[in-house]
Amino acid sequence: MNKNMKKMEIKTKNRNYPVIIGNSVLDLIYDLINQPGMYENLFIVVDENVFSLHEKYITNIFNETNKKIHFYKLKPGEHSKSFDGLETILSEMIEKKYGRDTLLISIGGGVTGDLSGFAASVYMRGIQVAHIPTTLLAAVDSAIGGKTGINFNNYKNILGTFYQPQFVIIDTKFISTLPKEEINSGVGELIKYAFLTNEIFYNYIYKNFDKIYSLEESVLNKIIYKSVLFKGSVISKDEFEGGLRKILNLGHTFAHAYESQTNYSLKHGEAVVMGIISALFLSYKKGLLSERRLKKFLKLPLRMKLSPEFVIRNYQSILKYMYGDKKNREGEIRFILLSGIGNLATDVKVNESDIHYAIEETVEVLS
Ligand SMILES: NC(=O)c1ccc[n+]([C@@H]2O[C@H](COP(=O)([O-])OP(=O)(O)OC[C@H]3O[C@@H](n4cnc5c(N)ncnc54)[C@H](O)[C@@H]3O)[C@@H](O)[C@H]2O)c1
Repeated sequence: MNKNMKKMEIKTKNRNYPVIIGNSVLDLIYDLINQPGMYENLFIVVDENVFSLHEKYITNIFNETNKKIHFYKLKPGEHSKSFDGLETILSEMIEKKYGRDTLLISIGGGVTGDLSGFAASVYMRGIQVAHIPTTLLAAVDSAIGGKTGINFNNYKNILGTFYQPQFVIIDTKFISTLPKEEINSGVGELIKYAFLTNEIFYNYIYKNFDKIYSLEESVLNKIIYKSVLFKGSVISKDEFEGGLRKILNLGHTFAHAYESQTNYSLKHGEAVVMGIISALFLSYKKGLLSERRLKKFLKLPLRMKLSPEFVIRNYQSILKYMYGDKKNREGEIRFILLSGIGNLATDVKVNESDIHYAIEETVEVLS
């Protein structure tokens, strides 16, 4: 066993599944797909960019499996997470005669994973799925926990399912080819875990911030491992977001609105960090944070390089997207706020003028 390889198990109501983390660990898939009960026919949805950068690595490993294999190359970008994107995958599965005994494997970022998970959950009333995340964002967050989905009518992730994978392999070899702006986006979700987990992890991320960008292997392995461990522990207590799991949405009510109103030109992780900044201001406004702590907590998200061209243009349009958010109840916008690292308040109702304040302060602090 590779000494840098880590393995853990995510526990869910119906089933536990393994997550493997390490560099060049994709070949561990042989053991996983040869487990009893794992389906024989592999339909592989792979992000087009990932395929062109890693074609040899991927095909060499899969050709050794002696299974029926079809590679479906997915057009990169958030716009693939749509009805059209879904339809094309499902049509190809039918055309290539993939039946219920199919294991759908996603190889790519959060877009590939969310769309593939959704496709697997509805194809023939549900086939098996496994994820091989290739972006930092997908490794620390989206590949774990079974949330699938597509965007619809310009509402982010408004259609989807909870559908747990059979296994997840996080091979950090893929991350070596990730463009800088995508690392930045992954750091966005990582900063969320810094706030959710504990002071030790928060300080580790703060101290090793530059080493994340230079993809130092030990740092990369640790931040992925710790994030997955934390997310896994939350999922095992609340798989379907009845309570505790809501904390994972820190910053997301703002973030989804920021993303939607820029028609997804803003990357998800960047939007999350902006959303966390807004949530910090809102927490201060609601008396959960002192001014001293607000200033202290703003330091980490403000270390991230955010797209200078981004401007939060239209307050009314942001509100409209917020009213469409899944976290709302009875037509009121609900927020996840924090009073300290690891201390979260969920379902907090706030009025529109407080939201306005948080957005104004976010624009100000980013300018
Ligand atoms: N399901 C969840 O729990 C969850 C959680 C967080 C985010 N998400 C979703 O994840 C999506 C964002 O995911 P993302 O940031 O991974 O974006 P992405 O999947 O769009 O990938 C970003 C870009 O990186 C490229 N890429 C991927 N891997 C690469 C590699 N190894 N080398 C070079 N290029 C590579 C892709 O082609 C794409 O251009 C959003 O839709 C968001 O809603 C889901």
